[in-house]
Amino acid sequence: MTLQEKLLQYRSEGKALLAANFYNFETLAGILQAARQLEEPVILQLSESSINYLGLELAAKLARAGLSQYGVEGWLHLDHGATPGLAARCLDAGFDSVMIDGSEKPFEENVRITRQVVDMAKIYEANVEAELGFIAKLGQEQERDGFTQPEQARDFVIMTGVNALAVAIGTAHGFYKKEPKLDLVRLSRISAITPVPLVLHGGSGIPDEMLRNAISHGIVKVNLATDSKNTFMKELRKVLFTTDEIDLRKTFPPAIEAVKELIVRKIRLVSMQ
Ligand code: 13P
Repeated sequence: MTLQEKLLQYRSEGKALLAANFYNFETLAGILQAARQLEEPVILQLSESSINYLGLELAAKLARAGLSQYGVEGWLHLDHGATPGLAARCLDAGFDSVMIDGSEKPFEENVRITRQVVDMAKIYEANVEAELGFIAKLGQEQERDGFTQPEQARDFVIMTGVNALAVAIGTAHGFYKKEPKLDLVRLSRISAITPVPLVLHGGSGIPDEMLRNAISHGIVKVNLATDSKNTFMKELRKVLFTTDEIDLRKTFPPAIEAVKELIVRKIRLVSMQ
């Protein structure tokens, strides 16, 4: 099943897919072990910096081989593609889905580059996600205005033909400085008039109940990155403080296990009907 189809199915069932970022073999393994244990699908995401770290071909092949080896239904997605050029390279490398993030550009420019990527993705039958509104990235002011306007979201989707839309309703990437407040009324309105599945960025640090509410008001894909990084590094630090072991095949597994437990909890939470 394509990711586009899966997202539509999940929307009709009132549940969400977890989209988990991975950074290396170990975080990928933790995510895949979780999905395998639950027999649930998962989206594997790579940001541009992770692609640069791993190398595009290796990253794509690692994800593909991982899905096959673990027997997990999943898709490989480019998170926050800044340019159509990067999206093209990812599509060529076999990604199932790409995000083109023109959210900080003027509306017309966002429409233009999103359409360009939608056209390009057609021959690959790939899913395309775009973003409208301001969702703070790491290091950006979290309180800044810029929530997605429902009517503009509807127009944007119609003008671009995009498959999924990330919306700004009160989340931010990274650690929250204070507990987020989601604008669920706005989310319901966007969901009611916008014909595509909606995406929640900044999934780390959102209380469970709030996340469930976002899903019941129209979110179909939940992105999670910071929580996995934090969980992995915290556990690894613990191990390193208590042992002089130099066999990294013995050092990493507790950190992989911690990521697995986190992802099990998050997949259960978002895929509950
Ligand atoms: P967090 O790092 O806040 O979980 O956000 C992830 C994300 O939205 C990736 O696009």
